[in-house]
Amino acid sequence: MKIVSISGEDVISPLGGVRKPGVDLFDKCEAYDEPDRAQALGIYPFFRPIEEMDGAEVICEGKRVIMVGANNYLGLANDPRVVEAGIAATRKYGLGCTGSRFLSGNLIIHEQLEEALASYMRKDAALLFSTGYFANQGALTSLFEDGDYILCDKENHASLIDGCRMSPAKIIPFAHNSPESLRRRLTRLPREAGKMVVIDGVFSMSGDIARLPELMTVAAEFGAKFYVDEAHALGVIGADGRGAAHHFGVANDADLIMGTFSKSLGCMGGFLAGDEDVIKFIRHKARCFIFTASPPPAVAGGVLCSLRIMQEEQWRMVKLWENTHRMHREFRAAGFHIGTTETPIVPILVGDEQKAFFFAQKLFDNGVFATPAIYPAVRRGQAIIRTSYMATHTPGQLDHVLEAFERIARELRIFEDDAYQRAAREIPQRHHHTPVPKPGRSAAI
Ligand SMILES: Cc1ncc(COP(=O)(O)O)c(C=O)c1O
Repeated sequence: MKIVSISGEDVISPLGGVRKPGVDLFDKCEAYDEPDRAQALGIYPFFRPIEEMDGAEVICEGKRVIMVGANNYLGLANDPRVVEAGIAATRKYGLGCTGSRFLSGNLIIHEQLEEALASYMRKDAALLFSTGYFANQGALTSLFEDGDYILCDKENHASLIDGCRMSPAKIIPFAHNSPESLRRRLTRLPREAGKMVVIDGVFSMSGDIARLPELMTVAAEFGAKFYVDEAHALGVIGADGRGAAHHFGVANDADLIMGTFSKSLGCMGGFLAGDEDVIKFIRHKARCFIFTASPPPAVAGGVLCSLRIMQEEQWRMVKLWENTHRMHREFRAAGFHIGTTETPIVPILVGDEQKAFFFAQKLFDNGVFATPAIYPAVRRGQAIIRTSYMATHTPGQLDHVLEAFERIARELRIFEDDAYQRAAREIPQRHHHTPVPKPGRSAAI
């Protein structure tokens, strides 16, 4: 409701407070009509209400569609054993803890999960957070002081960028996945200053794997600590799905490893794993850990179960990679630009944002659930349909997805589009597919 008079003098609001004349803080909300315009065109792709989940398919708006827009890489989110473990923990401890871990909300089951995660990641200690977003924020806001530096890959996830922005350290961006750029940046910083390199192990939009060995070598030369966000790498690469640092055999050089439960582990929440004294420090300093209620018992119970299944059922990673390689190969063969992905995240380049919305809507109409990613998730003019694959997608489901993409790309004349061609020239492409991983005990894929 507008409460400023046309002549500009103070007015009494209907609720009794005196307001100053000027721009109404909420004017921009009224003016913000992009979602309405997309809705009017029938192409609004966000907040689709899902009525039922059934493995790799969901029922949404009354339709059964194949899900290629989630991060449920191993298909564990609706595994009956995981669901039962969550229910059992709820029965035992209740729905919530109604307090922070710091005070009254610390359950034995939280500590059991921390021990299991520390041992899984081969680190001294681990610390749970309510979300992966908070795990990044907790580490990045508590460890730095004025005069410190965070070196941040330009394509890092928003949660890392937000954590960097909230920290007192100065942020130094370096070119995506470039040890050369990292070296140039580090050379200019004072030798004695505190420094940490922060990077995604697997990048959430491009599907690239961070070049950890080379980046870590550079960081070590300059005495910089190293932080790896393994959100999209857990359950996907490295022996037993331990992530990118283990995949390259450099986990000892990762001073802090962050992971989420919201992807392969099929739940929500996040964690940090590292040296005991560093974890103890963060546990006592991170405001987003201290000033928030502890994760619900169902999360701890469910994740303990999915963590165990993930390590026991190696076929899941094997299937995930079979599906991944098939989709890389077939999308490329059909002429799609899928960038430099090496993982189950397969971005399909469209270029123009509105066209990406039309594409996603047509996919949905044809039984495929995938969402567009537009600026700021990707660069302007480089809109994609972000797809990601699961161990539990069947060959028939993947046939359907590929067939729908090819037909719609032809209908929308994607490849002839100027925006597509411009973006395709700007974004590097990999033409081969990555080798099949050996999930067992090996360190590398
Ligand atoms: C790389 C990366 N880090 C952190 C997060 C945040 O994790 P969560 O969803 O558990 O808050 C995400 C989620 O999309 C992510 O992709």
